[in-house]
Parts: sequence; structure tokens; C-alpha cells
Amino acid sequence: MEKEVKWWKNAVVYQIYPLSFMDSNGDGIGDLSGIQSKLDYLKNLGVDVIWLSPVYESPMDDNGYDIKNYLAIDKIFGTMEDMKNLIEKTHQMGMRLIMDLVINHTSDEHHWFLESKKSNDNPYRDFYVWRDQPSEIGSVFGGSAWEYDEHTDSYYFHLFSKKQPDLNWDNPKLREKIYAIVNFWLDMGIDGFRLDVIDLIGKDIDQKILSDGPHLKKRLKELYDQCFQGRDIMTVGEMPGLSLESAAAITSGKNPLLDMIFQFSHISLDEIPGKGKWALRPLDLIEFKNVFEKLQTTMFNHGWNSLFLANHDQPRAVSRYGNLAYRVESSKMLATILYGMQGTPYVYQGEEIGMTGVKFDNIDQYKDIETKNIYQILSNQGIPHEEIMASIYAKGRDNSRTPFQWDDSRNAGFSTGNPWLDLNPNYKEINVKKDLSNPDGVYHYFKKLFQIRKSNQVFLDGKFIPFMKDNPELFGYYRKNKKDFVLIIGSFNDQSMQIEIPGKILEVLITNNPTIEVTNKMEIPPYYACILRIKGDQ
Ligand code: GLC
Ligand code: CA
Repeated sequence: MEKEVKWWKNAVVYQIYPLSFMDSNGDGIGDLSGIQSKLDYLKNLGVDVIWLSPVYESPMDDNGYDIKNYLAIDKIFGTMEDMKNLIEKTHQMGMRLIMDLVINHTSDEHHWFLESKKSNDNPYRDFYVWRDQPSEIGSVFGGSAWEYDEHTDSYYFHLFSKKQPDLNWDNPKLREKIYAIVNFWLDMGIDGFRLDVIDLIGKDIDQKILSDGPHLKKRLKELYDQCFQGRDIMTVGEMPGLSLESAAAITSGKNPLLDMIFQFSHISLDEIPGKGKWALRPLDLIEFKNVFEKLQTTMFNHGWNSLFLANHDQPRAVSRYGNLAYRVESSKMLATILYGMQGTPYVYQGEEIGMTGVKFDNIDQYKDIETKNIYQILSNQGIPHEEIMASIYAKGRDNSRTPFQWDDSRNAGFSTGNPWLDLNPNYKEINVKKDLSNPDGVYHYFKKLFQIRKSNQVFLDGKFIPFMKDNPELFGYYRKNKKDFVLIIGSFNDQSMQIEIPGKILEVLITNNPTIEVTNKMEIPPYYACILRIKGDQ
């Protein structure tokens, strides 16, 4: 353990999806001024770092993950002045702000691409990937990853939508432009980046190696040397296809290439292996526990984890892993299990009040390009509407993108206009105002949990040791350092169950049900959670 602990190891990060957080001017779209008006709410929760999903100028084909101009704020979100104000205000309140950096691809409306399309000898031609013939690589959003362009009679590569052409990282001129953009924002005073699908920038398309490609480490190193080195920032790389071993290597050492990584091994466990995200199967808790144990032990003293269950691409955590019949209990239980581990905690907006997924009747109510594409593709294959909708209800990205639920007034207090995406109709029941007014609300629990994490060193450096490893309904583990020994317990059981806790129980640090007396042999109610300080060797 290094002497001086890096600030981001102790930080709580809160992800804002700007389109859906808070609308300040009644156009139905969340914006920067809206975010600024809610900083107190975040500060009070114990947030240290705000991560903003993209706010750059964009045609919004993929909600801002398709950038048209890296150096401008999209006018739906506000102005560059608003951005500077937000950074300043965030800093004044003792918080930091990181931006989303989408540099695997741009929008097809970016002027580099408009130039690139013009001719084979255009100076920007090699900023993108052009081939005479397509290969069989498929797009993440369905269909081929190659789009034919008549003008030069060739195909360009897009791993996401056809409006998101992939940049050609083999081109040093492109890389130079990217570094200038990254430095522009860092010089403006932001505190780091979440790097979108950054595992893809080392790819070798002709060899069909995409994630964790042959050039990845070298590219990350150059990015680090040109932009990150010597700055007091944090970086977190989204790396869906990366092995745990590579994740550990990239985030370890004195000057890691990236401070931490979003690793996805726990995320795909409710999918039929090899069949993609829409083919559902029930989660096996033992598998889920094993994945976390592996993450926690592999990265112990060798890299750094980011702790997350949800984000703007994933369904709501409580709908996915909890139980809506026990919404409040299971929201708290999931937080206990997740944030008791080693790593930097991430909260996705709304998770802290137990917001849930949504079930719209009509496919037209969905706005996400991935959902729209998959609906089309599966319908064309003859799959019945109900079956497709079941997958979309479970996994669609709009689940977590519905407008934030501030109160029970019109549009949940999110906007006075017409929201760009319909609200979850449950906003009268589930909203900030109601949750905050209840001392047993989810928000207060998250807040307390973060305070406990920060005031007990064992959450920072304690070793992870599984507890009741073979139990299919209970997720338990110890954290242990030289001075301290804690036990974290979370029930995934919708029935009461018996558990036995060895050792002397010294203190209950937190629990989602204080009416239950904690003893060595106890019966715990559905979705029970607690963190205990105990004495003794294990
Ligand atoms: C990342 C983003 C996702 C986006 C994709 C393409 O996975 O989180 O929202 O669609 O990259 O940029
Ligand atoms: Ca607005």
C-alpha cells in the first residue's frame, strides 16, 4: 500500500446522464444549468466526483456518444460559459468533475469525416477506416459494421451505429489531434475523464481483433505521456472486452496508464453465453459472487477496481438484481454489497433513491438507437412482439435513461416542458422529495454507507475473504486489514433464512433493518443487509 493514498481511491463518483437529470429551461431536455442547480443534492449525498456523460456538440444519434465537435458544448445543454461555470461551482463546493471522452469514433457529421468521405486522397481520408470490401464483423447495434459509400465506392467501418464511424488510431496525425482535444479540456480545469470503449483503440480490424488489440497498451501509454502525465486527475477506462489480467496490468504500478477500469465480467451473467445481451437467463448468485471474488482478489494490491452495477447502458440495478416487492430493502442491500468492496464506488443517477426500470407499451416510446435497431432486427426474424419487449424491458438502455424523479409534481419536477423521453409512471411513488423525507429512505442509507467507508480504513485496504461462499441466496464477505475485521452480508433471498456468524460481534456499522437483533445465530428477513465489526481471526 503506497504511503500517500490517491484521492480517487477514496472518492465517490456520481454519473450524470445530462439529457435526463434536470431541465432548467423547459425544452424537455436536461442541461448544464439544471445540473448546476442540483449540486447541493449531490454534495449532501457524499459525492466527490461528478462524471458527465457527453455534452459535446452532437447530432444525438447515440445521445452524444456521436461527437460532431469535441471543442463545443451542444446547444441543447447550454454554452461553453455554462460549462465553465459548472466546473467552477463544482470546485467551489469541494467536488470534482470528469467528462466522457469518446475517441474510438466520431459522428459522421464531424468535419473530419465529411472531408474523409470526399476522396481517396483527401488529407483526412486516413482519419477513418476505409476498405474496398467489407468483412463479416458485426456492429454492436446490429447489422454489419461496414457501410457502403457510393461516392468513393468503398466501405467505412463503424462498430456502433453507421453515424459513428470508427477513427483510425494507426494514423499519427489523428492521434495528435486527439491529444490536443484532451489537453484542451484538461487545461480548462476538468479533473479527468471516463474513456468510452477505450479497449477498442488498439484494434487490428483486418485480423478481426477488436477489444484488447495488439496496439492497446502502446496507445494508452502515448495518451498518458501526451496528456495525463503529471496532472492531478483521475481516469477510468470503459473496457467491456478486457480480461481481468489486462485490467489489473493497466491500472497497476506507480504511474498506471489508467487509474481504473470498468470491467464487465459481472454484467453479462444474466445473458445466455455467446448469444448477446438480449438472450436472457436468470442470474446465478454463486456465479455472480465468484466473479466479484475474482475481481477483488486479482486486483488486490495490483490495480484498482471501479465498483458499479448500473450505468446509462445497463438496466436499473434494483430491477435487475434486487426485487421490486422489496424495492427499498433490496436497493440498500445491493449498495451494501457493492460499496463494501475494494475500489472506487460509482452511483448512477437515481440509484440513490431506488429508481426502477420502465415498461413502455409502445415501441415508439423508446428512443435508444440500440433498442430501436434490435426491435427491427428481431421482428424481421419473426420473433413475436411480446418476446422482444420482454428482452427490452429487461435489458433496454432506456430503462436507466428516463427523466430523473425529483418530486411528485408534473414531469416529476424534471421539466416544465415535454420530456424528450417519457417518464417512468411510478414517479409519484418514487422520487427524491419522498425518499428524502423518510429517515429510512434509500438516499440516507447511501449517504451513511459512504461515511462509513470513508471513516474506516479497512474498506480501502482490507483483504476480501468470502463468507458462506456456497450459499446460493446470500452474498457475504469479510474485509480484513491489520487492525480491523468487518463482515458484509446481503441476502438475495425473498424468504427469511438462518445464518451463523462466527466470532464476537462488536458493532453493527450499518443495516437496512435495525429492528433485527444481530446475534451469532440469527434469522434474517428477505433482502437483509448489514456490515458488522467483529473480533477474531478468520
Ligand atoms: C459506450 C457508451 C454507450 C455508447 C457506446 C458507443 O459503451 O457507454 O452509451 O453507445 O460506447 O459510444
Ligand atoms: Ca433544457
